[in-house]
Amino acid sequence: MISLPELLHQNLKESNQLHLLQFWDALQENERVALVEQLQAIDWKLVANLAVQGCGGSAMQIDFTELEPPRAFRSDGGDAEWTIKEAVDAGTSAIKDGTVAVVMVAGGQGTRLGFEHPKGMYPIGPVSSRTLFQIFVDRIKATCARYGVAIPLYLMTSDATHIETTEYFEANHFFGLPRELVTIFKQGTMPAVDAESGKCLLASPSSLALSPDGHGGTLAALHRSGCLGDAEQRGIQHLAYIQVDNPLAQLCDPTFLGHHLLSKSQMTTQVVKKRYPLERVGNVVQVRERVHIIEYSDLPEDLANQRQTDGQLRFWAGNIAVHWFDLNFLKKSLLRADTLPFHRAVKKVPYLDSHGRLVKPAAPNAVKFERFIFDLLPHAKDALVVEADPRDSFAPVKNAAGAETDTAELAQAAMCDLHRSWLADAGVAVSEGVKVEISPQFALDALELATKVSPRETITEHRFFDVDRCIPSND
Ligand code: UTP
Repeated sequence: MISLPELLHQNLKESNQLHLLQFWDALQENERVALVEQLQAIDWKLVANLAVQGCGGSAMQIDFTELEPPRAFRSDGGDAEWTIKEAVDAGTSAIKDGTVAVVMVAGGQGTRLGFEHPKGMYPIGPVSSRTLFQIFVDRIKATCARYGVAIPLYLMTSDATHIETTEYFEANHFFGLPRELVTIFKQGTMPAVDAESGKCLLASPSSLALSPDGHGGTLAALHRSGCLGDAEQRGIQHLAYIQVDNPLAQLCDPTFLGHHLLSKSQMTTQVVKKRYPLERVGNVVQVRERVHIIEYSDLPEDLANQRQTDGQLRFWAGNIAVHWFDLNFLKKSLLRADTLPFHRAVKKVPYLDSHGRLVKPAAPNAVKFERFIFDLLPHAKDALVVEADPRDSFAPVKNAAGAETDTAELAQAAMCDLHRSWLADAGVAVSEGVKVEISPQFALDALELATKVSPRETITEHRFFDVDRCIPSND
């Protein structure tokens, strides 16, 4: 039987985590090996610091008296140094030159949604029931076809989602994307700690309760997995970052990319106008030429309520987690991958009690530590903020049915509303209560749709506009 390495014992003792060995004597050889491997992969000094201080790395201190609204390209084009047409042209040629790739993050555990598979497998299509993964792959395929290029997809998973996601893509032949364009890579993990005692939780006698290290883990994982090197070899210069849980996320939109390029920004982020001062979204702000995202809970209320002379909110920009990254900026940022701050998220985490019984808590009991990708923003030179219309860019799937916001039902309604508006622009009416969904492969946008449908038609039953056919639904 293997015995516990001396140094590991010492680390656990110093970080007050010896309870993790409470079932050691009863473990089989293979279980001991697995536990030692897990424990040795953890930075115990970091965990001890986080448990005490709550935040690690080099979180930037912000002086709130210096807060300004961010440098932005507003949706009305006001104050811009270039036109929308110039942005579209610049973005289009970068895509046609084969310099863009997509990074989609899908490593989250999706605890709020309560779906029993990775969130990307959620059947979000309001008529088609196509999954989030399928819809994004459809959009990549349609973009490749429109511009005559190959767009690589780097898909991030975690221990929580990797096996099922990989099997899902393989079983479905990558949904028609050429295999060599898809890389599925795994992010790191962090132990969850008891919210009161700061002690790490066990998931079983021989394993810790681990959770993904946040979407900020993307940077280190892109490097570790060789994706950054692969992108460089393929001549990629710009990475579109999207999260799997926003089916309206604009993937490789030439206009958004064009703004990013014309402003020479190292990282550009898409935002929507906040609907009210204390809305629960990250506030995108600027402090001395640097763009920051401040969580809603951290922005002082008097600042959140400030208005300009025209009555608009001064701090108007809400984060929707859609970014463009300059590849060289990401490479330079690798030096920072281990110093991005950790944020605390208090969540429900099942754990073994001291008698070895599995407890499924009814209320949040544990702290998970997560890095956020947007903490790279203040380090980006000439970072730009681009305003989008939420109706065609933001429909997050976060909460289980019945919640007031961010449910799958609301996202489906937003998809139908958007596609109904495209049809209306093309002169096609849709009867009240009828659901319509347009596959990206049928039309990527309203202009393309207008070339494919006949005006003056009225749609009276649910319909999915698929790649070359329109399929009425039996629902
Ligand atoms: P959220 O922060 O909303 O988390 O992720 P979540 O896991 O989807 O849901 P909850 O909080 O457990 O209910 C936003 C996006 O970031 C990805 C998610 O997959 C989602 O696309 N993400 C989040 C990661 O890829 N890794 C992480 O560690 C966390």
